[in-house]
Amino acid sequence: MLLNLPRRVKLVDVGPRDGLQNEKKPVPAAIKIELVHRLQAAGLKEIEVTSFVSPKWVPQMADNAEVMSGITRSEGVRYSVLTPNMKGFESALLSKPDEVVVFGAASEAFSQKNINCSIAESIERFTPVVKAARDAGIAVRGAMSCTVGCPYEGDVAPERVAYLAGLMKSIGIQRVDVADTIGVGTPRKVQAAMEATLKHYALNDVSGHFHDTYGQALANTLASLEMGVWNFQSSIAGLGGCPYAKGATGNVATEDVVYMMQGMGIDTGIDLDALIDAGLFISQALGRQPNSLVSRAVLNKRAG
Ligand code: HMG
Ligand code: MG
Repeated sequence: MLLNLPRRVKLVDVGPRDGLQNEKKPVPAAIKIELVHRLQAAGLKEIEVTSFVSPKWVPQMADNAEVMSGITRSEGVRYSVLTPNMKGFESALLSKPDEVVVFGAASEAFSQKNINCSIAESIERFTPVVKAARDAGIAVRGAMSCTVGCPYEGDVAPERVAYLAGLMKSIGIQRVDVADTIGVGTPRKVQAAMEATLKHYALNDVSGHFHDTYGQALANTLASLEMGVWNFQSSIAGLGGCPYAKGATGNVATEDVVYMMQGMGIDTGIDLDALIDAGLFISQALGRQPNSLVSRAVLNKRAG
């Protein structure tokens, strides 16, 4: 018997950013904008739209300003963008995001590969970003990569997660994502990473960001729910991966998370049918089937 599960969850769809940053072929800005519109129409209240990173490193996000300016914003929806440094923040500011996301890693090797600096240096870079954002009235989230495993270092100890969470807290980052970047986590390991994070952040300020490479993301979501975590990130149609984590597949599909929550009587505020249509839209634009078992099942049922 599962006791005391949250009655509602809040999902951040990271598909437009985490998903589309990983596509080999360029995706037109108009498609990205339409995807954001469909996600908000389906009931998503938080959408991670794009990132202000080096276009040499991640050319897929080079249209960041165009995408942000093309969105017709919906009241009550939070639009977030990734900003790894002041250069990114200054560009992002012109697009008026509601929240900026700095992103660090619990493993040194991943920090170097992803953002070209050590963990300590990353905190130095984030510090002025956090201050400038807060001064401008913009919320700040911190993504913590490799909280369970690292593609370069293997297992990551919970102490490394607690260390990073403590650093993020010390510079004023308001909430954090516990990310399983390469999807190697299993429930107990993910709970240990959550527990380490909860030494520094309140339950309301911690979210789960699980890639589904090994098919464990829903189990890890349930394991986090059991601890009272109620903020999760997921990706429409299971899009995604990280260019600096080879072999890692997308985040858990938003469709799959919503179906599981609905089945457990947990409110998401999301219309599953509209969500499935949004997933179909982006999958067709990319020339493939949605990477979501729930989507496939519902589409088969519709066809039948
Ligand atoms: P760097 O080379 O160390 O930066 O890159 P630099 O300050 O030495 O600058 C070098 C050049 O980049 C300069 O241009 C800068 O102007 C430019 P040049 O003079 O050579 O022409 N530059 C920038 N341009 C645009 N926007 C910027 C910016 N900063 C510098 N913000 C940097 C450092 C972080 C920029 C680089 O390493 C980078 O862009 N990395 C991309 C990392 C990334 O986007 N990774 C994927 C997202 S994270 C993720 O997916 C994980 C997550 O989902 C959670 C999880 O699952 O784990 C969040
Ligand atoms: Mg990710």
